[in-house]
Amino acid sequence: MADDDRTLTTRQGHPVQDNQNQRTVGSRGPATLENYHFLEKISHFDRERIPERVVHARGFVAYGEFEATGQIGDEPASTYTRAKLFQTAGKKTPLAIRFSTVIGGRDSSEAARDPRGFAVKFYTEDGNWDLVGNNLAIFFIRDAIKFPDVIHSLKPDPVTFRQEPNRILDFMSQTPESMHMLTHLFSPRGIPATYRHMEGFGVNTYKMVNAAGETVLVKYHWIPRQGVASLTEEEAAKVQGQELGSASKDLYEAIERGDYPQWDLYVQLMEDHDHPELDWDPLDDTKIWPEDQFPLRRVGTMTLNENVKDFHNENEQIAMGTGVLVDGLDFSDDKMLVGRTFSYSDTQRYRVGPNYLQLPVNSPKGRAGKVYTNQRGGEMSYGVDTAPGQNPHVNYEPSIHNGLHEAEKQPYHAPQISGRLTRSDLDRTNDYLQARGRYNTMNDWERDELINVLGAMMAESERDVQERMLWHMFMVHDDYGQRIGEVIGMTAEDVKHLKPLPRQQLSEAELERLAHLG
Ligand code: HEM
Repeated sequence: MADDDRTLTTRQGHPVQDNQNQRTVGSRGPATLENYHFLEKISHFDRERIPERVVHARGFVAYGEFEATGQIGDEPASTYTRAKLFQTAGKKTPLAIRFSTVIGGRDSSEAARDPRGFAVKFYTEDGNWDLVGNNLAIFFIRDAIKFPDVIHSLKPDPVTFRQEPNRILDFMSQTPESMHMLTHLFSPRGIPATYRHMEGFGVNTYKMVNAAGETVLVKYHWIPRQGVASLTEEEAAKVQGQELGSASKDLYEAIERGDYPQWDLYVQLMEDHDHPELDWDPLDDTKIWPEDQFPLRRVGTMTLNENVKDFHNENEQIAMGTGVLVDGLDFSDDKMLVGRTFSYSDTQRYRVGPNYLQLPVNSPKGRAGKVYTNQRGGEMSYGVDTAPGQNPHVNYEPSIHNGLHEAEKQPYHAPQISGRLTRSDLDRTNDYLQARGRYNTMNDWERDELINVLGAMMAESERDVQERMLWHMFMVHDDYGQRIGEVIGMTAEDVKHLKPLPRQQLSEAELERLAHLG
């Protein structure tokens, strides 16, 4: 067969002689059922889609590399972590990134007001590391058990299938920890102009572990060298009137023309304990770590320089999760992080299949792509992970007959944990404090946009939801409450009768504000 032979075949390798006509009795039919080529073609087409992601369904993948500085800020990276990808200046690690929107379906608008996913898969020499983040530094909730609720409130109504302001604000108004996130999301930061012009954040609190097994708490930040740009509601309406996939298009075209986007990766560090001196908890993902107290320290740069070859194989089937860490990086007890870590691989075993890690986009490329496990079988098993020289009969460990063996033990990070089993919120909730800080530091036009957009949404809600939302706005800032009140025709007088929510534990500062509201 010539090298340039492009003869169409079935997946069984049979050359296809007629791809235009089914096999029929005479030219007018009826059709026959033994027509293998026709059946294979149609039945494969019937199965072309896999379930879309339950969140972050619309997204776009690109490839690139991460170049380490060898430092964490001014200090050698090894002071804080033994993760190999950070150790040496100039060390390059290949990566895949998937940007996404959260709430809309697979064909929805990329100019919607929505957080954006910022998920990076580093193919390190020690196996994969997934840093699954968003473009906003914080989140709506701080306990994973509330995730299905917050997402249900934001997704379309199960009856009308419309995204309903009243459902969203009903949930949020009963969830005071969401006020900080809402203040970000309804500002222009809630609609990034493109994927290239947005920041990325790990959001949850992780740990780094050094060679001695010592740990620090860490938060991750990606800062775009292209700058940050956002759209107003009006600009976004124009963009999505023309093009639903505006952000994917922008990224794909930039990479095609060689205009490679770059982000610097920074970390914030904190000693690994509960920091009673702070009036918020370092494990609370509704809080930022102020940069004047916890400075940003640069660790490297990411460059995106390659596009996907096939959207389905590389975008729909890529699977990332917070459980995927390498030696030198670790989890904290952040209750969102722990819940997320279960959820991602659970959904991927359902969405892509139990052997999703055998697919090229998910399989590790480090250690020259070597994966040696004793896992066998399962739907769509494609290969057997045996090591060279491994006895193929020995798919268990330990064995004295040439089986796989464990890696060398590293000093282990083994925190002492004690406490009563309980169901309770964190002690230092302070849900209004940082929303207030954010409101204060916005530019005038950003604040105007926040008031108009959130006010318009509140105007579509029922009176009891409006009242509770407005009460929270006043708890954040007088000006915030007054201006939103003007949009919906209410004042502080209209919400004075409300008491804190039954589950709310107000801090001293918050009790003072409550007294101030009268
Ligand atoms: C995707 C669960 C919070 C960022 C997903 C998926 C699930 C999920 C089930 C779909 C994964 C897939 O089908 O491959 C959760 C749960 C959360 C949570 C249970 C809270 C407990 C967060 C937070 C962030 C985040 C706080 C931001 C830091 C992402 C991103 C994706 C994603 C970026 C898309 C990954 C991709 O592009 O493939 N999440 N999530 N999630 N989540 Fe979360």
